[in-house]
Amino acid sequence: MATYRGHLSNCLLAAVAAVLLTFLLPPLVAGQPLGKFCDDSANYTANSTFQTNIQRLSTTLPKNISSSRTLFAKDSLGTVPDIVYALALCRGDSNASACAGCVATAFQDAQQLCPFNKDATVFYDPCALRFSNQNFLASTNGDRKFLILMNTQNVSAPAKVFDSAVGVLINATADYAATNSSKRFGTGEEGFDGSKIYGLAQCTPDMATTDCRSCLGSIIGMMPKYFSGKQGGRVLGLRCNYRYETYSFFNGVSLLQLPAAPLGVPPAPSPAPVNVTPPATTGTGAENTTGKVLAIALPIVIAILAAVVICFYLWKRKRERARKPSILDPTNPDDMQSIDSLIVSISILRAATDNFNESNKLGEGGFGVVYKGVLPSDQEIAVKRLSQSSRQGIEELKNELVLVAKLQHKNLVRLVGVCLEEHEKLLVYEYMPNKSLDTILFDSDRSSVLDWWKRLKIVNGIARGLQYLHEDSQLKIIHRDLKASNVLLDSEFNPKISDFGLARLFGNDQSQDVTNRVVGTYGYMAPEYAMRGHYSIKSDVFSFGVLILEIVTGRKNNVSDDS
Ligand SMILES: *[C@@H]1O[C@H](CO)[C@@H](O)[C@H](O)[C@H]1NC(C)=O
Ligand SMILES: *[C@@H]1O[C@H](CO)[C@@H](O)[C@H](O)[C@H]1NC(C)=O
Ligand SMILES: *[C@@H]1O[C@H](CO)[C@@H](O)[C@H](O)[C@H]1NC(C)=O
Ligand SMILES: *[C@@H]1O[C@H](CO)[C@@H](O)[C@H](O)[C@H]1NC(C)=O
Ligand SMILES: *[C@@H]1O[C@H](CO)[C@@H](O)[C@H](O)[C@H]1NC(C)=O
Ligand SMILES: *[C@@H]1O[C@H](CO)[C@@H](O)[C@H](O)[C@H]1NC(C)=O
Ligand SMILES: *[C@@H]1O[C@H](CO)[C@@H](O)[C@H](O)[C@H]1NC(C)=O
Repeated sequence: MATYRGHLSNCLLAAVAAVLLTFLLPPLVAGQPLGKFCDDSANYTANSTFQTNIQRLSTTLPKNISSSRTLFAKDSLGTVPDIVYALALCRGDSNASACAGCVATAFQDAQQLCPFNKDATVFYDPCALRFSNQNFLASTNGDRKFLILMNTQNVSAPAKVFDSAVGVLINATADYAATNSSKRFGTGEEGFDGSKIYGLAQCTPDMATTDCRSCLGSIIGMMPKYFSGKQGGRVLGLRCNYRYETYSFFNGVSLLQLPAAPLGVPPAPSPAPVNVTPPATTGTGAENTTGKVLAIALPIVIAILAAVVICFYLWKRKRERARKPSILDPTNPDDMQSIDSLIVSISILRAATDNFNESNKLGEGGFGVVYKGVLPSDQEIAVKRLSQSSRQGIEELKNELVLVAKLQHKNLVRLVGVCLEEHEKLLVYEYMPNKSLDTILFDSDRSSVLDWWKRLKIVNGIARGLQYLHEDSQLKIIHRDLKASNVLLDSEFNPKISDFGLARLFGNDQSQDVTNRVVGTYGYMAPEYAMRGHYSIKSDVFSFGVLILEIVTGRKNNVSDDS
């Protein structure tokens, strides 16, 4: 649920472009790419030797990295002009299997995110990958592109005090990482304001201590510009990266423990007034007395003031925490673990959607109207207002909530909040700028936006999402109503499957079930499901087939030939 605002930075060009990234990832699952750098100054063609070399590296590099103790691998394959250089680094607290999985995913994603570009870099929470036709492996300080991600939440303590505490922590963590010859990786924690700040820093293990520290030093230098007063931030480069948060975000204990940073009044009202000569009293005795009184009284006054300030901030913090619904609180990694923590108050949603104003209506599905909303943090959301007469009962609703909250995949739409107040049943999803697939695919004006590559990407993405539902998630889930209007598209036309209200939980030993309530959509339903209510993952595959036909032909499955 963390809302991060990111910036891409290129030190050499000093060009900074802003991108908005919304992500929530369980730690160390490849998940959604955090960002990418594509270089289209050289392209390869389909089925070229260069592409074959990428494909071969995409199988060998994950193997190499999983057998590397440092979770780092670089390699090259082929001969000029088709030679491919590649480098991958996993976070130091990752493990061999998660690391190899992330790198394998990264190869596939990079080819989709930077289609046919000979040089691509992609970042995930657990790993980063670059491949290129240029030999960037030769030098450890050639990569000057950085992805900057900012936790948009402000700290409640004074920004200056917090920033300097973070600076101390990250500097120390960077020192630790640079001097740790085994992995060039460090994590640290530091007490602050009754809780803690956590930090992580890492370089590629092939870097010398001084190179590593100077790489980290240059990105730590970006801190004041981007992260002042922010609860978290990270700068990701291929060669070095760091991150800090106010919660623990890495595996294992912190390698470095720092004492609590001094908190309280900023240094400005220092005891300097103690030495001020009292005016108009020239007698030495009087001066001495006044000086003594000041010397005793002032520190006491300052101490009381400091205590009041600290109490005030602690109180304010507590109050803000209590008041803040979890949808706005990205700092708690446990948020997603229970439905309770997804609960958001109806007043927030009323404000976000302008009291469900007709002008914010995005569409109307089988279960109710969907509205667009904007949270105070500028996060855009889609609010599904289940109609009173909805066929979706409380049980089915709970089903949807439990499932959706647990499922996280880049090709599944993400549930970010739930409201069950005042007889309203409201589900809050991440907002998808390009709406649902059917609104583009079947619109004769807009369908030209979908070129073949986008269509291929969409089919691929749906397949991945479906595979995740069927096989890769802990639960075995059958969607049962896969159709074009249940596939949403983000700003880059990445497909996200929505509407799990109809999906049912499956036991491990059960691959088929009989339902007496057929809940799919005609035209997409497998015959055995439509007629006898038998469904299995094969029913979804049938629907997927119908969907592919629609995507390829641009025609609806149930409309006679008149358009
Ligand atoms: C590796 O890490 C992943 C993600 O944190 C975890 O699910 C998996 O169990 C770990 N595997 C081992 C062998 O520790
Ligand atoms: C590579 O492809 C991209 C888009 O596909 C295009 O904009 C770019 O000009 C191409 N580069 C070269 C060198 O042809
Ligand atoms: C690439 O190869 C695949 C299968 O080998 C083939 O289907 C496809 O048409 C080829 N594409 C091009 C552009 O040659
Ligand atoms: C990576 O592994 C492949 C075999 O899987 C091996 O041929 C290659 O030499 C390895 N590369 C490095 C840099 O270790
Ligand atoms: C954080 O503070 C900045 C300015 O100090 C403000 O513009 C921004 O809206 C605040 N963000 C949040 C999430 O409160
Ligand atoms: C961190 O180190 C840099 C130099 O490496 C220094 O300029 C900066 O002041 C340090 N920050 C803190 C908070 O100590
Ligand atoms: C380097 O880091 C590892 C953990 O990644 C730790 O076990 C080891 O003690 C560290 N070595 C040094 C010299 O700090």
